[in-house]
Amino acid sequence: MIGAGVIGCGMISGNHFHAISRLPDVAVRAVCDIDAEKVKKAAEEQHADAVRDWHDLIRRDDIDAVHVCVPHFLHAEISIAALEAGKHVLCEKPMGVSVREAEAMKAAAEKAGKTLTICFQNRYNGATARMKEIIGTGSLGRLLGGSAFVAWNRGGAYYIDSPWRGAWKTEGGSVLINQAIHTLDLLRYLAGDLRLKGSTMSAKRLSGIIETEDTVDMLLEDAEGGRYLFYASNCGVCNLPVQMHLSFEKGEMHLDGARLTVKGPEGTAFEDYSTALAVGKDYWGSGHGPFIEDFYRRIGAGLPPFITPADALETTRLMEQAYTREMIVRRRPE
Ligand SMILES: NC(=O)c1ccc[n+]([C@@H]2O[C@H](COP(=O)([O-])OP(=O)(O)OC[C@H]3O[C@@H](n4cnc5c(N)ncnc54)[C@H](O)[C@@H]3O)[C@@H](O)[C@H]2O)c1
Repeated sequence: MIGAGVIGCGMISGNHFHAISRLPDVAVRAVCDIDAEKVKKAAEEQHADAVRDWHDLIRRDDIDAVHVCVPHFLHAEISIAALEAGKHVLCEKPMGVSVREAEAMKAAAEKAGKTLTICFQNRYNGATARMKEIIGTGSLGRLLGGSAFVAWNRGGAYYIDSPWRGAWKTEGGSVLINQAIHTLDLLRYLAGDLRLKGSTMSAKRLSGIIETEDTVDMLLEDAEGGRYLFYASNCGVCNLPVQMHLSFEKGEMHLDGARLTVKGPEGTAFEDYSTALAVGKDYWGSGHGPFIEDFYRRIGAGLPPFITPADALETTRLMEQAYTREMIVRRRPE
């Protein structure tokens, strides 16, 4: 049996516990949270030990892999300590709140010779795999560019109830680092490495409630000069399925949540990859299960993770550039 420990028993931990419960050779041995009620409940449900201090969890000999499911500002510190303690680490997104933190996480994994991966589970969605496959065949010709659109709904209560959110120090940003980072990562995954041409950040609906941004837009460019428009906002009235459009020399792909439309020389195909979810929210996608299963399969086989630290680091790099550079604001002269 592989022993697992889960640090952070909040909203996302249910997806991790559910995924692990489906793996016959992985057992949750300990769960950790500073919140006494949450850790007690999780420990009872998982038939695992309850630990209040994460240092005690990563020290245990019966734990081989640690799931880091805590607020963003703790990702680097806990992941690095767990790697140094000889554990494999599956860290929820983002890979740190800065490039400096992400680089330190990557270096710690290399030094320890242990697996580190970041939870960009949407890469495991059926539609994502299909898009990657079609791009790989080259049947639609060269990728010319595209757009991605995330319109979700996070109101004041979401931030007030969970004070680590909405603060630069603890969340590291808001809609980009937390909600839309998945879509930014997907665009990188499908289009290859991207360069930031310009970005704007603003707080419209949540101004005065959060110190971070509730809306971001970016213009990105791929290595061939393809152009990508990226827009994300937490000011939506509901959580719309993520939309992505890719234009090719000989066709196009349009993703609407789990539904994919492909237009090419052979005609138009409509494919629906929707799945009924046993746990979590539909806009988190269906990827946690396959992602976590693959993490353990690769550890068992001595293989590197599918999402390597070097790869995930580039998503943090792009994100950090958007937060710290390239702000372009035009105002009409009076
Ligand atoms: N992959 C996804 O789709 C997805 C979706 C939601 C959240 N997340 C990520 O999961 C992480 C957690 O988010 P959440 O929504 O579950 O947040 P949450 O606030 O519901 O849960 C975080 C938990 O961490 C605990 N915690 C805080 N400090 C701790 C410490 N020092 N030691 C142990 N526990 C501590 C809190 O008490 C809380 O229970 C974040 O990184 C978030 O971005 C990922």
